[in-house]
Amino acid sequence: MLLVTGLVSKRLPKYRFEYQRNMQVRKGSKEHIEACLSIAKEVSQYFPEKAIAAMSQDLQEHRLYIAVDSDEVIGFVAIQIKSSQVAEISWMAVKAKRQHQGVGSQLIDHIADDLKGQEIRLLQVKTLASNVDYAPYELTRQFYEKRGFVHLETIDPFPEWEPGNPGAIYVKVV
Ligand SMILES: CC(C)(COP(=O)(O)OP(=O)(O)OC[C@H]1O[C@@H](n2cnc3c(N)ncnc32)[C@H](O)[C@@H]1OP(=O)(O)O)[C@@H](O)C(=O)NCCC(=O)NCCS
Repeated sequence: MLLVTGLVSKRLPKYRFEYQRNMQVRKGSKEHIEACLSIAKEVSQYFPEKAIAAMSQDLQEHRLYIAVDSDEVIGFVAIQIKSSQVAEISWMAVKAKRQHQGVGSQLIDHIADDLKGQEIRLLQVKTLASNVDYAPYELTRQFYEKRGFVHLETIDPFPEWEPGNPGAIYVKVV
């Protein structure tokens, strides 16, 4: 029984990786911003209108990476360089019907490699903290934890966000 369970759990990521075999992660540019905003608007339980407005501004200024499959943008990450050794994920989303297939993981692996090559040592992300009972962001926190991010602290209230939205700070050594 244990053996069977082990085999199944080893096969799952392989299947998911094969499913994404036509996908590429690369740097994005201003021409991709609209496609990224459409992805974020599709998952409005994560990004209310105010967040989309802030994202629209940030994507003009931050470094953008996109996941592309057959010329379609299916996911993105925006990075802000905070210092010579620290970068922050400012925004990230994967197209709703392409979530849970390894796209986000491949985006994180790609940016971690890229940043490492530029002497960046720490990657940070801020997300909704676990002391708020809001199911969608539970998956988000699980995602970051599975990708090697460590919860550093929760700031409540979080000065930059609306009241009732405590911030969890996660960091990952790249
Ligand atoms: C979080 C997000 C970027 C992850 O990308 P992804 O391609 O779905 O993630 P992966 O397939 O590489 O990893 C899946 C893991 O992430 C978690 N996860 C995150 N979102 C999930 C979802 N919608 N469905 C299932 N699992 C999800 C699970 O822990 C899962 O682990 P498992 O495979 O062991 O069950 C993506 O789901 C998303 O766009 N979410 C909405 C927006 C968001 O939360 N952005 C980040 C804001 S800080």
